[in-house]
Amino acid sequence: MKKFYITTPIYYVNAKPHIGHACTTIVADVLARFWRQQLGDKNVFFLTGTDEHGAKIQEMAKAANKNPQQFVDEISEQFKSTWRALNISNDNFLRTTDKKHIEAVAKVLNELYENGYIHKGEYDALYCVGCEQYKTKTDLIDGKCPDHQKEPEVQKEEAYLFRLSKFQNELLSLIKTDKYQILPPSSKKEIVAFYEQGLQDIAISRRKEKVSWGIELPFDKNHTTYVWIDAFLNYLTGLGWPHAKENYKKFWPVDVQIMSKDILRVHATIWPAMLLALKEKLPKHLFIHGYFTINGQKMSKTLGNVIDPNDLVKKFGSDGARYLIISQFPLGQDGDVKAEEFATKFNADLANGIGNLVSRVLGMTEKYFDNKVPKSTNEPIIDWGDVKKEYMDNFENFKIFENTKLILDAIKRLDGFIAGAKPWEVAKTNQEELKKIIFNLLESVRELAILIAPFMPETTNKIFVKLNINEKNADKPLKAGSDVSKGDALFQRI
Ligand code: MSP
Repeated sequence: MKKFYITTPIYYVNAKPHIGHACTTIVADVLARFWRQQLGDKNVFFLTGTDEHGAKIQEMAKAANKNPQQFVDEISEQFKSTWRALNISNDNFLRTTDKKHIEAVAKVLNELYENGYIHKGEYDALYCVGCEQYKTKTDLIDGKCPDHQKEPEVQKEEAYLFRLSKFQNELLSLIKTDKYQILPPSSKKEIVAFYEQGLQDIAISRRKEKVSWGIELPFDKNHTTYVWIDAFLNYLTGLGWPHAKENYKKFWPVDVQIMSKDILRVHATIWPAMLLALKEKLPKHLFIHGYFTINGQKMSKTLGNVIDPNDLVKKFGSDGARYLIISQFPLGQDGDVKAEEFATKFNADLANGIGNLVSRVLGMTEKYFDNKVPKSTNEPIIDWGDVKKEYMDNFENFKIFENTKLILDAIKRLDGFIAGAKPWEVAKTNQEELKKIIFNLLESVRELAILIAPFMPETTNKIFVKLNINEKNADKPLKAGSDVSKGDALFQRI
């Protein structure tokens, strides 16, 4: 039986989520919902969570005058509640301050140490606390980290190092041959070029007096582990590993890890190297999407130029917010988000688009057939087989944006069909023809409801109620004579 395991990054709890985090999480949710339709609920696992240790969070908690645990508890809860508001269907929410996770990290550190992958040394490097990542001089613009607009700090201290360089050749070959596939190709190219400069061993600990808010190294209590070593392991511990192996056996390795380019390099180097050292299989795909920017700058909690997804949910509803966030740009590209255009897009695509179509079709069924599905022959207005094939291919290739376009295009074609067929005139002259038009329009609404389900699950359910069907029988043609109802508009124009 095929399975599908999908992850988002676990987000830092230095501030509440913005639409950049929401974008990654919604994309993962859309894919998880699509694969549940294909494989069944039990064969899909969708993991998200929060990354709660490290220097950045320690500093933020201090600035907020809170003890770190209280601070992370509050913000982690804000991530959870935002995901609930956006109808995110994650199967688990992993927090790195969970006791079992911490135990697993300590166990892994010990194993890596005992097997000679970790050794003590001196480290001298540039470090951006905003990114929680080491930087090379060529990463900086005017001496600053471009994402955080800050000069990195110089870290020169005693540290434990992970033998990353040992994995250089093996990993480069796995990446080049797509056995460890990095998508889109531009991201793969960037990583191959990075590998070709040579991988260096990397510090995986900080002295405790510098960073105390972290997991202690089990073999040296004066050090805490680098937050990424802790964070990466969430992808395993989120399945219950190593204590409970059932989900791990069923779902490991990850099928796809969705993230943006800020964390591609660490995900394509340290993470797979750790897995090789632990003799675990590597994820199959990393899918890297672009940045949401505001006036050309990355939207970030540290810069403070953010849009809160909860504000969008209040204004546009959960499905409206989901749709507006992920239909901004094709997934691989960066794009400037213009908040003032959200309402226009909402009205055009949702209120006047699918909302208006569904209300017209059900309005005509009410008017001409007293809310009963007319009996007629099935002559599809659109070749749904073709549309579904393209839709499947798009999802298999992570082309989420292209599927929103495919749906919009189907809606336009159906609007065009109504304009050409003029059912209000046919009603005066030809009852059989009218039955055929309305029956096939109702069938089109049913097909559309299924296609939009991964994107807008609430809207799908509302349409099912109008058509008097449910998730189990939705893939069968509508029954002649069954009752339908126009009900309320799906989206109120703004
Ligand atoms: N905690 C680490 C990840 C550890 S995973 C083992 C981290 N957290 S983060 O809160 O900074 O989240 C980064 C991720 O959030 C990005 O890779 C992306 O998925 C999402 N985004 C954050 N800002 C974004 C934009 N401005 N635009 C698009 N996505 C953004 O890194």
